[in-house]
Amino acid sequence: MITVALPKGALLKDSIRLLQAIGLDFSAFLESGNRQLQITDPTNTAKALLVRNSDVSVYVEYGQAQLGVVGYDVLREKSANVAQLVDLGFGHCRMSVAVKASSPYRSSLELPLNGRVASKFVHCAYDYFQSLDLPVEIIPLSGSVELGPITGMSEAIVDLVATGNTLRENGLIEIDVLFQSTARLIAHPLSYRLDTDGLCTCIEQIRRQVSQPALKV
Ligand code: PRP
Repeated sequence: MITVALPKGALLKDSIRLLQAIGLDFSAFLESGNRQLQITDPTNTAKALLVRNSDVSVYVEYGQAQLGVVGYDVLREKSANVAQLVDLGFGHCRMSVAVKASSPYRSSLELPLNGRVASKFVHCAYDYFQSLDLPVEIIPLSGSVELGPITGMSEAIVDLVATGNTLRENGLIEIDVLFQSTARLIAHPLSYRLDTDGLCTCIEQIRRQVSQPALKV
């Protein structure tokens, strides 16, 4: 039986809708008060695990799930050893640098040498500032990173922007975009190559649903 790792949070609804379209019903995860972390679809053909967005690739890399749905932002951050198969076309957002609107900075290169940048995506942030050859101190946080510049702990943040509401409501503005992100279908590389439990048929069905050409494996 195929197991798919699904991300809690913003990508869950669309992930479940997509799987429903190929006959796999995991909508029980969306029921209010649901506490189950593992369910089998009513036709007994696949199982789903409900995990944190940042853990999806871990379950897939270790083979506990053969498939997973995860944001490209997380894949970039974690450099997981998984097969990236399909751009699912939902969960659009971007990884951006933001600063206080009242600050003098209007591009990353204007940030002070050895300035501080708070982020949940420390590897993305590090790689970006390395690519600019701008030495900064990356401050790792787990959430509410907007508070970095607000409190004066950091000059900037590197974070995801979707609607832009969080930045606006906290008096911050985007000054640069690192990359765009969408939800991706990923697979355990060996299971994919061996086509374990009809995995390739399932992937093909998903691919057809999103009518998207294959990404690099
Ligand atoms: C993300 C991100 C921003 C917010 C951006 O946080 O870190 O805070 O969403 O979305 P917006 O542009 O639509 O306002 P998330 O909701 O994942 O919460 P977290 O900070 O608890 O991880």
